[in-house]
Amino acid sequence: MTDLRALLTTVAGHVAAYREAVPDLPVFPGADPDRVRAALGGPLPEGPASAEAVVAQLVAGVEPALVGSTGPRYFGFVIGASLDAATAADMLAVGWDQNAYNQLSSPVAAVVEEVAGGWLRELLGLPARASFGFVTGGQAANTVCLAAARHKVLADAGWDVERDGLVGSPGVRVVATAERHATIDRALRLLGLGAGALEPVGTDGNGAIDVRELAAVLAQGPVAPTIVCLQAGNVNTGACDPLRPAVAVAREHGAWVHVDGAFGLWAAASPTTRWLVDGIETADSWATDGHKWLNVPYDCGYAFCAHPDAHVAALAYTAAYLRAAAMPSARSPGDYVLESSRRARGMATWAAVRELGRTGLAALVEQCCALARRFAVQLASVEGVEVLNDVVLNQVLVRFGADDATTERVIAAVQASGECWMGATSWRGMTLMRISVSSWRTTEDDVDRSVRAIVAALRA
Ligand SMILES: Cc1ncc(COP(=O)(O)O)c(C=O)c1O
Repeated sequence: MTDLRALLTTVAGHVAAYREAVPDLPVFPGADPDRVRAALGGPLPEGPASAEAVVAQLVAGVEPALVGSTGPRYFGFVIGASLDAATAADMLAVGWDQNAYNQLSSPVAAVVEEVAGGWLRELLGLPARASFGFVTGGQAANTVCLAAARHKVLADAGWDVERDGLVGSPGVRVVATAERHATIDRALRLLGLGAGALEPVGTDGNGAIDVRELAAVLAQGPVAPTIVCLQAGNVNTGACDPLRPAVAVAREHGAWVHVDGAFGLWAAASPTTRWLVDGIETADSWATDGHKWLNVPYDCGYAFCAHPDAHVAALAYTAAYLRAAAMPSARSPGDYVLESSRRARGMATWAAVRELGRTGLAALVEQCCALARRFAVQLASVEGVEVLNDVVLNQVLVRFGADDATTERVIAAVQASGECWMGATSWRGMTLMRISVSSWRTTEDDVDRSVRAIVAALRA
């Protein structure tokens, strides 16, 4: 018989101990996957094991190989860490095991999303009428928003895509920044619009969309149902598209405007960076992540839509056994997302926003931007090192020496050092080190220590 209380206390102890230790552990442990396989694999277990033994085996096998992305010196992929309250809330959500499909499956999960979503909308400066869905991440958020867009632009052209599909429908134009995130393309594939049909628009020197070129691309094509995809937070440079003028141009063509702001939308949450997303409220839909800059644990993203009817028309479904007759007016979380049964991920978001408050979130955004600038200033002062982007947000692009090979060597050495972890990217034909600052745990000391590791790698 499992002593559940002892088991979960032990687990909480492991989580706490790991999180306390992570600043001093190698950021990338260099663990051999074969050791993890040996610890956890083998033949399919024939019979049961005690819960204590299962947990002990999992911890022993996995913990030495964990990537320290929840620590202070992980600068890859805009990962963010996880706030204490948000982590605890997610642990509670797992323990409570609610199905957040609708107000019948879990009224409380529905209300938590309703509260947290309303707070997010306000923090991000989105219209008060905007609907929202709590999804798994930016990919799902982009897909949900573009499904709503597809519905609305075709409905305006007299076509019911939900009923009749795309065969025989009016063609949909999709115009997007050439430096969009690849998940836009995957969303277009999934929605049957086709990534190949996308009309790309060039960008300025820092990777923000060129509004004059956007106007030209829109003007040169046929009059048709049109979706324009803008971006807040270029995945490489952090640049934000000039939203207000870009939306205005798109409006002249009756287009739906979607903003992919997986991390950059959080610029709206600080008075010092809000100018970067000026005009944000004029768009039609917005995708962002909680598991990036809000520092909510994985997996958590949000799809917002200025047209709740289109959002629901594109996503909702029902069945006789699912009707929530008891509370017909309550918001059904499942009407705004791709999943049916789903975990109560609103709890962690509620906790993150409750823990930070408006000022705490603004301070987190500002701190990350200031630390990104600190990286840029220090690295740019080193001989043989060049910062390639204008560091407007939390992203820094760095080149070492005059060729890609030196940059690749430095990145590999830094990743192997265990001191910090930065990824590699390719931008404008160059291989570059990509530094993303998005953890609430990162301090000036962490940046200085990481710069020392980078310089040591360069000079080795
Ligand atoms: C701009 C942008 N859009 C979309 C995504 C996809 O988000 P996710 O990985 O959470 O699905 C990312 C990052 O991964 C991103 O940086």
